[in-house]
Amino acid sequence: MGKLHLQHISKSYGATKVLQDVSFHVNEGEFVTIVGPSGSGKSTLFHLIGGLIAPDSGTITLDGKNLINTRGHISYMPQNPSLFPWRTILKNVLLSSEIAGKKDAGNALELIEKAGLSGYEDAYPHQLSGGMKQRVAFIRSLNSPQSIICLDEPFSALDEFTRFEMQEWLLSIWKEYQKSILFITHNIEEALFLSDRILVLSDKPASIKKEIIIPFSRPRTEDLLLSDEFMKLKREIHNDLRS
Ligand SMILES: Nc1ncnc2c1ncn2[C@@H]1O[C@H](COP(=O)(O)OP(=O)(O)O)[C@@H](O)[C@H]1O
Ligand SMILES: [Mg+2]
Repeated sequence: MGKLHLQHISKSYGATKVLQDVSFHVNEGEFVTIVGPSGSGKSTLFHLIGGLIAPDSGTITLDGKNLINTRGHISYMPQNPSLFPWRTILKNVLLSSEIAGKKDAGNALELIEKAGLSGYEDAYPHQLSGGMKQRVAFIRSLNSPQSIICLDEPFSALDEFTRFEMQEWLLSIWKEYQKSILFITHNIEEALFLSDRILVLSDKPASIKKEIIIPFSRPRTEDLLLSDEFMKLKREIHNDLRS
């Protein structure tokens, strides 16, 4: 479960064409990242997949089922996730399963422990640091029953060190939960470190310019960032984005 398929998606806002004939897929359990310049239509893609807006043409399916104009089938972490300040950490994590109508706590407590937040179950968001809040928003997405998680630039507000820790943490968690991930970033290094596959989006109107299959084995460690092959791919994608 968790196979996402977009075919020939086009979308305009008024006279502005944002997406032009975008087709791609995410396989079950795969980690796919979309990189593209700012304003190229990345968040728009997520809003389409999440059923918040409809495309002008094309199809979007999850495991063969239509997603256009239907909500609740994907787990979506927006660019600026917010926790509910009046809910405890545990109650915030439980929100996604509550919305999906599940009564039990699912993996919530286990996830809180994996996020390094044991002891904070009954704390409130204002008592947590930025990185901790980010992890809560993540495990809330992971605790949802949906088979695919869409993450829109989740680390862009974090400093470089915290960002790298979060990337490693995300990979360790993802490995255990067998969900598909569609990730958005404009950070090439981040995309290379995390993904199975990278899709490079062109400038507006955006289409898929290139697909790069990432050859690095897992688990991935920090050394990878300084390897020749990593540098070479980084340069290549940098040029793809500019040309
Ligand atoms: N609701 C909207 N109405 C009009 N224009 C929009 C709307 N949402 C996004 N846009 C425009 O569409 C383009 C792509 O936006 P967005 O998908 O947010 O880009 P990205 O996430 O890649 O930075 C931008 O030029 C933006 O101004
Ligand atoms: Mg965006």
